[in-house]
Amino acid sequence: MRLLWVLPLLVEAHNKSFMHHCAKECACQEELSANCTQASLTELPKHLPPLTEHLDLSQNQLTHLPRRAFVNTRHLKVLLLNNNNISTVADGAFSPLESLLRLDLSRNRLAALSKGFTLGMGSLRELLLSENQLTSLDSHSFQHLDSLLRLNLSHNFIHLVQVRAFGCLSTLRQLYLENNRIQTLSNGVFTMLKSLEVLHLQGNNISYIDIDVLTPLTSLALLNLACNQLSSIHFKTFLSLQTYSTHILLEHNPWYCDCDLQRVFRKLRNVRRLLLDDYENLSCAEPPELKGYLLNNVDAELCIAEMVTVLIITVTVLITVVAAIVMAERKRKIREKHWTDGASEVSYDS
Ligand SMILES: *[C@@H]1O[C@H](CO)[C@@H](O)[C@H](O)[C@H]1NC(C)=O
Ligand SMILES: *[C@@H]1O[C@H](CO)[C@@H](O)[C@H](O)[C@H]1NC(C)=O
Ligand SMILES: *[C@@H]1O[C@H](CO)[C@@H](O)[C@H](O)[C@H]1NC(C)=O
Repeated sequence: MRLLWVLPLLVEAHNKSFMHHCAKECACQEELSANCTQASLTELPKHLPPLTEHLDLSQNQLTHLPRRAFVNTRHLKVLLLNNNNISTVADGAFSPLESLLRLDLSRNRLAALSKGFTLGMGSLRELLLSENQLTSLDSHSFQHLDSLLRLNLSHNFIHLVQVRAFGCLSTLRQLYLENNRIQTLSNGVFTMLKSLEVLHLQGNNISYIDIDVLTPLTSLALLNLACNQLSSIHFKTFLSLQTYSTHILLEHNPWYCDCDLQRVFRKLRNVRRLLLDDYENLSCAEPPELKGYLLNNVDAELCIAEMVTVLIITVTVLITVVAAIVMAERKRKIREKHWTDGASEVSYDS
């Protein structure tokens, strides 16, 4: 009986102790979750329950994350920092968050990622950096992320991706790079991405793809290249995808519809593992007389001009040859005639 009296008091005392740990701008539930969203924070809250696993700091006015910013909540699994005004993240800011699974830094003002930004995040599965101001990805940008499955870099200003930028991400399954400013895909940029299943590159300025750049992507199931600046492609670029099956999206590119393009697509469509899902939506931007036509509707005619040219050349050659033979024959006959006439004259004379 006495114990029953004591129990609520204990619970209350316990609640008080962790309430004491919870910053006044935040709402802490149990000891595991702290909700500090929309609290006009310009600095990180000082007091949080040390066992917090889920920390929501979204929609505040944070501008800077110092080194070891979360050292007092080192059991964090989910950390939401999206919709702030963060422009600088110190090296080791997230060290030592060894349990962290999800980090959301989207909708901030990050223009660059410091060298040690990923230190101590070896268990991270999902990193969201979309809607920032990143312009380039260096070879050190994503070091230490040994467990990463999903990386969202969409809606930045990325135009430069260094060859080893994704070099440590051999576990990565989904890479979102849509709506950036990438112009070429150079050999080597995807080298280590052997687990990658989904690659979103739509809405960039890609006009050139190196022939071997896709070769390492042996798990790729979806490649989205819609809304870029491709006017032509090489058959081998896509043939080099040694996957079980890959969906490829290519619409809203300024295709140059000629016989070469028609041939490339005819060959690609015959490769069973490559699925050109939006082939029927591809439209021509060039040459001017085909602008706006669907490739699918003109592809039968694209090689006609070429065939006519070939035909004309063949016929011309044939006519020349025949003419030459006829001429030669005629000359021979004339010469023969001269010879017989001459011979009879001679015999007549004698
Ligand atoms: C965000 O930070 C910049 C300086 O980095 C400042 O000029 C701007 O007013 C801040 N915006 C908000 C909404 O706090
Ligand atoms: C990636 O970020 C964009 C922009 O914030 C968002 O619309 C999209 O849903 C995100 N995708 C994933 C899979 O996280
Ligand atoms: C082709 O375009 C139409 C109209 O814009 C759209 O509804 C359809 O989903 C597109 N097909 C594919 C495979 O993208």
